[in-house]
Amino acid sequence: MINEKLAKIWYGGDYNPEQWDQSAWDEDVRMFKLAGIDVATLNVFSWSLNQPDEHTYNFEWLDQTIDRLYQNGIYTCLATSTGAHPAWMASKYPDVLRVDFQGRKRKFGARHNSCPNSPTYRKYSERIAAKLAERYQDHPAVLVWHVSNEYGGYCYCDHCAEGFREWLRERYGTLEKVNISWNTRFWGHTFYDWSEIVPPNELSEEQPGDVSFFQGISLDYRRFMSDSLLDCYKLEYDAIKQHDKNTPITTNLMGTFLDLDYFKWAKHLDVVSWDNYPRIDTPVSFTAMTHDLMRGLRSGQPFMLMEQTPSQQNWQAYNSLKRPGVMRLWSYQAIARGADTVMFFQLRRSVGATEKYHGAVIEHVGHERTRVFKETAELGKELSELSDQLLDARVNAKVAIVYDWENRWAINLSSGPSAALDYVTEVHKYYDAFYQANIQVDMISVEEDLSNYDAVIAPVLYMVKQGYAKKLEEFVKNGGTFVTTFFSGIVNENDLVTLGGYPGELRNMLGIWSEEIDALNPDSKNQIVIKGQHANLTGEYECNLLFDLIHSEGAEVVAEYGDDFYQGMPVVTRNKFGKGNSWYIASSPDQAFLEGFVSELCSEKDIKPNVKAGTGIETSERVKNGKPYLFVMNHNDIKSEFDLEEKVREDLLTGETKSGKVLIGAKGVMILGYEQVGDL
Ligand code: GLA
Ligand code: ZN
Repeated sequence: MINEKLAKIWYGGDYNPEQWDQSAWDEDVRMFKLAGIDVATLNVFSWSLNQPDEHTYNFEWLDQTIDRLYQNGIYTCLATSTGAHPAWMASKYPDVLRVDFQGRKRKFGARHNSCPNSPTYRKYSERIAAKLAERYQDHPAVLVWHVSNEYGGYCYCDHCAEGFREWLRERYGTLEKVNISWNTRFWGHTFYDWSEIVPPNELSEEQPGDVSFFQGISLDYRRFMSDSLLDCYKLEYDAIKQHDKNTPITTNLMGTFLDLDYFKWAKHLDVVSWDNYPRIDTPVSFTAMTHDLMRGLRSGQPFMLMEQTPSQQNWQAYNSLKRPGVMRLWSYQAIARGADTVMFFQLRRSVGATEKYHGAVIEHVGHERTRVFKETAELGKELSELSDQLLDARVNAKVAIVYDWENRWAINLSSGPSAALDYVTEVHKYYDAFYQANIQVDMISVEEDLSNYDAVIAPVLYMVKQGYAKKLEEFVKNGGTFVTTFFSGIVNENDLVTLGGYPGELRNMLGIWSEEIDALNPDSKNQIVIKGQHANLTGEYECNLLFDLIHSEGAEVVAEYGDDFYQGMPVVTRNKFGKGNSWYIASSPDQAFLEGFVSELCSEKDIKPNVKAGTGIETSERVKNGKPYLFVMNHNDIKSEFDLEEKVREDLLTGETKSGKVLIGAKGVMILGYEQVGDL
C-alpha cells in the first residue's frame, strides 16, 4: 500500500488555492466532499511564494491549506515546489538559467527551466525540500512527497559542460577510452584534453530532431542529462528522508517521455507516479501500453496515476472533450493496469495564464451542476465503495515486451537506415497485437529477470547491452520463446557496430545472418509469403519500412519475401535453440500477420487470453491474495459482448453475477471477481 493512512484508491488532484481568492476556498472544500475527493496535490509551483527572497521562507499559507483540507477529510500529496525557480533567483544568480539547444542563454520565464548542474539550483532546491520535510514530517495529512514536477529538458551551459567532463571521467577513466568509445578518429575528432569536449548541440555536433554527427557523444550526453536531473531529484529525496523516513517519495513521470531513462530513475522512487494525457485519437492500446510500462518501471509494483484531465487539455492542437463516460473508462483502465490512485490536473480552473482553459473538476462557472463535475462525483462514489479491495493487487503476465530508453536514443540518433523508423511505434505494434488478443503483457527493462515469462519480445533491439545476449540465450535454452525484429543486434552500448555480421551477438541464437538492410519509403510494400504448414499463419501478408536481407544459418524459414530482388529470401525465421525458440521478423509486418503470429506463439506456449472478447473490449487482470479481478472495459460506442464461458463472476461495481456471454454497455466497465461459489 502506498500509504496506510488512506486505505482506498486515492481520488483527487492538483490544487492551487494560492492562485485565487480566499472567498472560493470554502466552496472548494464543499465541492471536493461532494465529489468524493480525498487527496489534494499542493505546492507544485509555489517556490516564489514560499521563498520571496534569498533568506526568507514563508509556509504559513501552506500550513493553513493543509490543515483546512485535513479537517475536512482531505489528505495531501505534498510537492516541493522546485519545478519552476523564482524570478529573483534568476536575476540574482543567472546560473539557474539554462542554455538552450541553439546555445542561447535563457532569461526568466516558463517552468521546468532550471539548469540541473547549477550550484544555485541545487543548493536552494535541496534546502527548500529539507525545510518542507522538517516542517511537515509528522503531519497526519501528508500521504506522499511529490518532488519537483515532470523533470525534463536539457541544458548546454558551462556548468553542464564541466559536469559532463566529470561524468565522462567517471564512466571511462581515461580520455583514450573516450576517444575509442566515440570512434573519434572519424572526421579527425580526437581529443587530447578533457576541456576540448563540449556539449553536443546545434553549435557543435547536433541538429534539431535528434540529428547527430557523432552518436557516441550525443548518446552519452543524453545519459548525462538524465543523470543530472536525477541527481537533482536525489538531492531533494535525501533531504526529505533525513527528516521523514516513512512517507513515500515520488516525482511525476510522463510515460514514454524521451528525455529521461525512467528505468534508471525508478530505482530512486518509492512509488512510481505518472501523468496520462492521451489525445482523443490516441489508440487506447497505446495508453494501455504506457500504463504497463509505468508498472514495469518497478517490476510490477502498483503506481499512482498522478494527473489526467477530467475533460480536456489546453496544450494540444485540438483540445477535445472527453466524451461522456470516457473519463471513468480511462480511470479504470489505469486501475486495471496497476494504478492505485486516480488523480486529476486540476481540481479548479485558474483565471489566468496558459492553463486557464485546461479542464478541471470545478469549472469557471464555479458550481457542481456541470457534466464534468457530475461524472467526477459518480466515479468518486464508486471508488469509495470499492474501498481497499483492489489496493496492491498485482498483474501476472506470461508475455513480456522489452523497452529500453538508451536503445531508443541510439535508434533516433542513428543516421540511416530510415527516417521513418520509430522505436516506440514498432514496440506498440507488437504490444497492440497482444492487446487485441486480450493477452496480458508486462513491459520490462533489459535488467528484468526473464524466468517468469514464457515469451519475450524485443522489437528493434538495435543496441545489445553487455551481457544481454547471454541472458537471452539462457532464457531460450531453458525453453523460452524470444522474438526480435529487423535492425537488431547491431551495436554495443557506445553505438559501435558489433563486427562479423548482423545481428551480432544474437546471430547464433537466431540462426541467421543479415547481410544487408533495405529501406524504402513506407508506402512501398513487400510481401511475407508463408512457407510450410502453420496453424495460424497462411498465405501472404504485407510488410514495409525496413527489409533485412537474411540467410538462414540453421533457422527454419517460416516466410519469404514475395517481391523485389530479394524475393525468396527469408523474412520470418524460427530457430530451435536449446529447449526454446527464437524468431526473427526481418521487416515491419501488417496487423493481419501480427494477429496470426500472436496466435501461433500463444498456442505454441499455451498462453491463454484473459477472456474471449470482440474488438474494442479491453481486459486486464489484477490479482490480490490469490483472487483475480478481471477488468473488462468497452471502448466501443455501442454495447458489446464478451464470453466468460462456464465461469461465474461477481461484478464488484454492481454486485451482479455474470457468466456465459455477457453484454457490456458502451464505454462500460466491469470488475469481475472470482469469489463466487461454484466457481471452477
Ligand atoms: C503537466 C503538468 C501540470 C499541468 C498539466 C496540464 O502534466 O505536470 O502542471 O501543466 O501538464 O496538462
Ligand atoms: Zn546547465
